[in-house]
Amino acid sequence: MSFQVACATTELDPEEALQVILADSAGTNVPVAVVRDSDGSWHAIGDTCSHQNYSLAEGDVEDGTIECWKHGAPFDLATGNPLSLPATKPVPVYSIEINDGDVLVDVDVTL
Ligand code: FES
Repeated sequence: MSFQVACATTELDPEEALQVILADSAGTNVPVAVVRDSDGSWHAIGDTCSHQNYSLAEGDVEDGTIECWKHGAPFDLATGNPLSLPATKPVPVYSIEINDGDVLVDVDVTL
């Protein structure tokens, strides 16, 4: 596959996240959290918390992390690694680009 439009840059302010569903090259739907960090940088991570199946996009975004709203595990936006319990496994981090007002994500390429 390749980069797909996930949303427009105008849809997220800093410290916000949005769940989008994108299809990978096999046609499988992949839930992605598109995240805009405190400094305005953009990230795309797997939207399903690795502890239980809750959406990370509903969590709090701050200074390079998103905190799962359900039990509070924070995830590093750059690596997908959990920074404390109860999550112990990483979530995938996807390639992301900004082009002409669009946020583009490639769900076939993990970083
Ligand atoms: S479901 Fe995310 S920390 Fe428990």
